Amino acid sequence: MATVKQINIALLGLGTVGKGLVNLLKENEAEILNKHNAKVNVVKVFERNADKLVKFGLDKNLFTDNMQNIYDDANVDVVVELLGRIHPSKEYIEGALKAKKNVVTANKDLICMHGDELLEVAKENGVTLLYEASCLGAVPVINTLKNNFLGDEIKSIKGIFNGTTNYILTKMTQEGLSYEECLKEAQALGYAESDPTNDVEGIDAAYKLCILSRFAFGLDAKFDDITKKGITKITSQDIQIAARLGYTIKLLAIAKCNNGELEMRVNPVFVSNNHQLSKINGAFNACTIEGNYSDEITLIGRGAGSHPTASAVANDVMNFAHTMGDVGSRTLKKAKLAKDGTMKYYLRLSILDKPGILSDIAKIFGDNGISIESVIQDKNDNPEVKSLIIVTHVTTSSGMQKALDKIAKTASVQSVDSVLEVIG
Ligand code: HSE
Repeated sequence: MATVKQINIALLGLGTVGKGLVNLLKENEAEILNKHNAKVNVVKVFERNADKLVKFGLDKNLFTDNMQNIYDDANVDVVVELLGRIHPSKEYIEGALKAKKNVVTANKDLICMHGDELLEVAKENGVTLLYEASCLGAVPVINTLKNNFLGDEIKSIKGIFNGTTNYILTKMTQEGLSYEECLKEAQALGYAESDPTNDVEGIDAAYKLCILSRFAFGLDAKFDDITKKGITKITSQDIQIAARLGYTIKLLAIAKCNNGELEMRVNPVFVSNNHQLSKINGAFNACTIEGNYSDEITLIGRGAGSHPTASAVANDVMNFAHTMGDVGSRTLKKAKLAKDGTMKYYLRLSILDKPGILSDIAKIFGDNGISIESVIQDKNDNPEVKSLIIVTHVTTSSGMQKALDKIAKTASVQSVDSVLEVIG
């Protein structure tokens, strides 16, 4: 039997995920030994004070509040960054890579904004930076994109990349509650933070889409290239109309490539009830990857939390038992950013019920090359006004914008209340 390989890690941050990782390494010690003939030892814990370690039952001698102690420790093989936020995590990771330590991180904001730069530092120093846990918690989507679809061309990735908003939309759908009521409940349960902006405005999902697009499409995807629209304007009426038409509203992150041109967006979508993603409820995450030969494959699981995130971090750490290097990355042809989007639309307008209004709107769509799939006239809270619901065929975003500008100026149109993407 070969000697048991010792993997020594320095843990930055003993928060929820850090504690989850320590527990996993303890509980799964025999399993890890059996599978990898390896043992993972926590040899340093970077924290503000030693009390946190002691309270958690760790030896206080592992404590350090000075990164230099970690850089200088020849015993440390892997630095696991679980502090979150961009600064000072970026500087700490750079320091670790320059000290020739491999790094594992769960930090999506940092990898989205500075991943390329950090990967370059890792390359220059002959070490590896892994970050499976940065996207969708326990769901192994980065490894799937890296190691599979090797013969396929990936056409699109789309999914539910944020558990908080999926929890809110699921509650709104299943219990008929308002957005505000469901947000309060998500905050009480600890899903949503007191300032929920990053989740509800699609920013958190966009960080993850940015990272995954680089694996799927080889594009140097930038956060600013992603169109972002959150769920704060979704009303109970939109949810009810979706249900009547056979759809469920989900906040989807979408990147799709047509003829080498890539569109990336996060927005609420009417997802057909026949599609897998319509059935992902509560705080679960999912990602559907579409290859040109495989067709759609959907990965579903827990996108956050102590154990699920620790599972993804541990997976990255265990790579070092075998390779102390990167796993199966490939060279991708580079997609370029699309200038225009293409999608089906759901629109809800408030209109005065006057003769000619439908033909006026239909003409505006026709003039802008937009084909209508279905139209419904519905009651409105205001008895003088009707809701006009239109679902289009696939059209361009620029054409839709021109049509909407014109519709907003049409006399009998009171307001454009909702503009959402439709899938399926
Ligand atoms: N706040 C995120 C979510 C988890 O609700 O899915 C971390 O990205």
